Amino acid sequence: MTVHFIGAGPGAPDLLTLRGRDLIAACPVCLYAGSLVPQGVLTHCPPGARIVNTAPLSLDQIIAEISAAYAKGQDVARLHSGDLSVWSAMGEQLRRLRALGIPYTVTPGVPSFAAAAAALGAELTLPGVAQSLVLTRTPGRASAMPPRETLAAFGATGATLAVHLSIQNLAQVAADLTPHYGPDCPVAVVWRASWPDQRIIRSTLAGVETAVAGSMERTALILIGPALAAEGFAESCLYAPDYDRRFRPQSATSIYKDSRE
Ligand SMILES: C[S@@+](CC[C@H](N)C(=O)[O-])C[C@H]1O[C@@H](n2cnc3c(N)ncnc32)[C@H](O)[C@@H]1O
Repeated sequence: MTVHFIGAGPGAPDLLTLRGRDLIAACPVCLYAGSLVPQGVLTHCPPGARIVNTAPLSLDQIIAEISAAYAKGQDVARLHSGDLSVWSAMGEQLRRLRALGIPYTVTPGVPSFAAAAAALGAELTLPGVAQSLVLTRTPGRASAMPPRETLAAFGATGATLAVHLSIQNLAQVAADLTPHYGPDCPVAVVWRASWPDQRIIRSTLAGVETAVAGSMERTALILIGPALAAEGFAESCLYAPDYDRRFRPQSATSIYKDSRE
């Protein structure tokens, strides 16, 4: 018996890995985080599967469900939205499973920042503009931030920021970042990226609160940084005609001339 943790993606049921789909189809038990996991993903469960929404359950109750399946020798598909490496509460479940000696695997999913960038048609790391992406959040009722992980500290780098779980703090996000990026810095807010009712609002740090005007809640990602509206950026060296590289040696004296692909 194994518990398969599976990243269920940002919302569209077909933004799921083939491995994730096949594991869901093979497991007689499916536990899913119902607040964000799309119902469409559950259509991959086999007929007769025990399908449990864990949104109203405590960690103890979730582990009790897993332990019951373990006692019966039944594999479990454990679904969380997006990817499991960020804000999935997987870490605490894995710790319990290790203590109980219950085996598990982890299958990644499409994270919401990637779905939001796709919706915007944006590359978040443009040459000479931004070469780092910070995935972060602001404090919530259940989650304080480690003291050094402030928006101001991340903003001081000028990197592209993907601020999760924070649409309710939008005014504060803009206020904290304006000293670092300036009031004209582009901001894009993507609500329910990849869902049929996806919405996008493009604005600036100065204008974003008015532009959103409380019209979005919960499942929204706030992207901030000059890369979101840059047009005058340099092209990458990698594809420049005269750039000497392993896959495209440029001269008889190239250090890559005899390299094999
Ligand atoms: C509990 S976190 C889950 C993050 C998830 N594990 C991931 O890989 O993106 C929930 C937050 O992720 C963001 N989020 C998740 N799905 C989203 C989507 N489809 N569109 C926009 N933001 C999303 C929102 O900021 C939301 O408040």
